[in-house]
Amino acid sequence: MTPTAIIVLAAGRGTRMRSGLPKVLHRVAGRSMLGHVLSAAGELEPRRAVVVTGPDMPAVEREARRFMPVAQFAVQPQQKGTAHAAGFARDELAGFEGVTLVLYGDVPLVRAGTLQRLAREVSADAPLVILAFEADDPKGYGRLILDAGGPVRAIREEKDACDEEKRITLCNSGIIAIDNALLWELLPEIGNANAQGEYYLTDIVELAAQAGREVRHVRCDEPEVLGVNDRAQLAVAERLMQRRLRARALANGVTLIDPDSVFLSADTEIAPDVLIEPWVFIGPGVSIAEGAVIRAHSHLEEASVGPRAQVGPFARLRPGAEIRETAKVGNFVEVKKAVIEEGAKVNHFTYIGDARVGAGANIGAGTITCNYDGANKHFTDIGKGAFIGSNSALVAPVRIGEGAYVGSGSVITKDVAPGALAVARGRQVEKPGWAARRKAKAGTQD
Ligand code: UD1
Ligand code: CA
Repeated sequence: MTPTAIIVLAAGRGTRMRSGLPKVLHRVAGRSMLGHVLSAAGELEPRRAVVVTGPDMPAVEREARRFMPVAQFAVQPQQKGTAHAAGFARDELAGFEGVTLVLYGDVPLVRAGTLQRLAREVSADAPLVILAFEADDPKGYGRLILDAGGPVRAIREEKDACDEEKRITLCNSGIIAIDNALLWELLPEIGNANAQGEYYLTDIVELAAQAGREVRHVRCDEPEVLGVNDRAQLAVAERLMQRRLRARALANGVTLIDPDSVFLSADTEIAPDVLIEPWVFIGPGVSIAEGAVIRAHSHLEEASVGPRAQVGPFARLRPGAEIRETAKVGNFVEVKKAVIEEGAKVNHFTYIGDARVGAGANIGAGTITCNYDGANKHFTDIGKGAFIGSNSALVAPVRIGEGAYVGSGSVITKDVAPGALAVARGRQVEKPGWAARRKAKAGTQD
């Protein structure tokens, strides 16, 4: 297989996003657009990778390293166009023999298989290949101008196209694969005599064709190469990605009663025979083991759900929630940074934060772990088989021993020994005949 290198252009400010965040860090299915591009490209195991960023974009570099630890960086000080941006990768790619893929950080839905198909098309006969698509509405995209018989003669940007060219619906995805030596031979020749006064990478097509090199194109479906320039396109990318993730879950043996109302993240791991009811939102970092049930209207992020566990309806699993095998987390229960061990039940109206709930323990309705004293977070440890009566407040740090009982309505501030009963509430007093006496007293006042 021909070795590959990649360049990802990610220096654009993305003014049309109207955002303080660099465009490529905007998320689609819980993962930045840059993360999507790098994880697809990563499957080609590139020998070298260069991400071109703008000045002062440390967050872009951090994100790129998460998804491609070998990535190197080049800074484009001013945004003078895609060819200008690609030029900054020159030093890192000097001497590389193979195929270089140029990717745009704002084209997040592209699949690894498509990139492979593109890279494989590059040969000595055709050293430059364009990834193209038939657009329903080509507005805003560069158009491919083909010679009779197939080769690409030029790419014309929307703003430079005449009316006839604007009617062309075969568009440039922005992604190209090119023999690395040819890239650096032609790039310096690209000028900026166009409507936007920018150095267009797309001009490399015309230069290659004029130099007698054949430029080919490979097609993919339009949704895969949607370019995200504004929030409306971001929302379209999200919808398309959700469709893809849901289809993958269904194919893997997950039941989604209403797929369209279940939101997944790019890294969501769901085992076969999981059932997910309608209106569930799954943020990044979630894994759900086989046979688990996620009931309607639940919200999960950075959490794990064990085999045959049940969550919801209306449950919230926050970062660090670990629901083990056959445990139950019921309605209006919030769990944060806590382990609910095997078979334990937290069924109604409860907050469990910074805690362990031992195997088989039962947490009564309305129980709260008071984990925060205004300055620090503290831990609550609930032993195996313990029983916490309804509406108890467990003031951390505190331990409830194995098999211990806590009476309903208690405010527990001290450790409870294994097997003991702790009751910490006002004692009930009863005054016989009090109601009649009160009525009589009220009567004299009238
Ligand atoms: C580009 C293509 C167009 C294609 C479309 C597909 C060019 C000239 N045009 O247009 O043919 O149909 O993508 O989505 O390439 N960038 C930099 N530095 C710059 C300019 C851009 O890093 O100076 C980066 C941007 O961050 C972005 C990518 O390059 O990730 C594409 O730039 P953008 O301005 O969005 O190009 P389009 O107008 O969409
Ligand atoms: Ca774009």
